[in-house]
Amino acid sequence: MKAIHITAPNTPDNLAMIEAERPVPRDGQVLIRVHYAGVNRPDLLQRKGMHPPPVGASEFPGLDVAGEIVETRGDCGDLNVGDAVCALLGGGGYAEYAVADAGLCLAVPKGVDMVQAAALPECVFTVWNNLFLRGELTANDTVLIHGGTSGIGSFAIQMARAAGAHVVTTAGSDEKCAACHELGAHHAINYRTQDFVEAIESAIGTERVNVVLDMVGGDYIAKNLRLMAPEGRHVNIAFLRGAKAEIDLSVIMKKRLIMTGSMLRLRPLAEKERLAAGLRDVVWPWLNRGQVVPKIHRIFPLKDALIAHEMMERSDHIGKIILKVIDD
Ligand SMILES: NC(=O)c1ccc[n+]([C@@H]2O[C@H](COP(=O)([O-])OP(=O)(O)OC[C@H]3O[C@@H](n4cnc5c(N)ncnc54)[C@H](OP(=O)(O)O)[C@@H]3O)[C@@H](O)[C@H]2O)c1
Repeated sequence: MKAIHITAPNTPDNLAMIEAERPVPRDGQVLIRVHYAGVNRPDLLQRKGMHPPPVGASEFPGLDVAGEIVETRGDCGDLNVGDAVCALLGGGGYAEYAVADAGLCLAVPKGVDMVQAAALPECVFTVWNNLFLRGELTANDTVLIHGGTSGIGSFAIQMARAAGAHVVTTAGSDEKCAACHELGAHHAINYRTQDFVEAIESAIGTERVNVVLDMVGGDYIAKNLRLMAPEGRHVNIAFLRGAKAEIDLSVIMKKRLIMTGSMLRLRPLAEKERLAAGLRDVVWPWLNRGQVVPKIHRIFPLKDALIAHEMMERSDHIGKIILKVIDD
């Protein structure tokens, strides 16, 4: 099969298409003929040698795919050969065939095509876990989502709206802010032209944010804390401006804030299966009803994975970048 290989960690242009052995599923796994694969920012980190695959996972990049099951091995529950699924992977999505744990395969939702389905797993697992389980977002809450037009942000805005929350978001251009409004955000702040703290305070008042979904870190953390309401939950999923932050602990104590975060890829299978169960119960109905619609920015052929990565590196995109793996 054809697959995209990381030729040498942390060197430029280090993605190459190679011929590789088709992977073999173990008990409880399926083999998927990949139609489309999602591009996620953690793939860029893997190329830099900073986000290695978990033990036993493919060395090829690619955390999510959509395609058809061509083989099942052992107990795979209700899954059958021929089923159209999307799946969360430990790696190996940038290839014509990928192995997935049966419990991490989800049916392609009604009205969602294979391109859109490939956009789902990494983002919706991450948003479900961090915004809803760790952040305990409810319909009565106001949520601040940084990076509103990121793959993650585009789902976070829509899922928060589907849950009934009030959504405030930041993005790096007026065009991106307009896209955040189209996705359902009540307020979108261009952080390059405005001080986002002042803009949010003037839009919704002081100390009104109940949940923060933060992928920025660094100097954003203290600013986020200033915006938060008492009993708020601050959830970190990345630190694009740095992993270290100086914060005033008295703010956390006075407002009784909870600071948390998580990393999806390294979590045990049983925990990911629990997340998948929550997605089936709560998020799949939103997708089936069209309340959440994957936002696709651009589709590249698999051989152009490097160009897709360069686009993501520049943050030119609004929504998801997808690789087309299957030939027409
Ligand atoms: N913890 C987990 O389990 C987990 C799982 C998946 C992804 N992630 C992380 O979540 C983040 C989003 O992933 P993705 O695949 O959706 O990536 P993505 O689409 O590339 O989004 C990254 C976003 O960050 C914004 N950004 C970049 N540099 C920034 C800066 N210095 N300050 C403020 N915003 C900045 C960019 O938008 P602007 O143009 O608006 O700046 C861009 O939209 C990534 O950092 C990724 O590593 C974490």
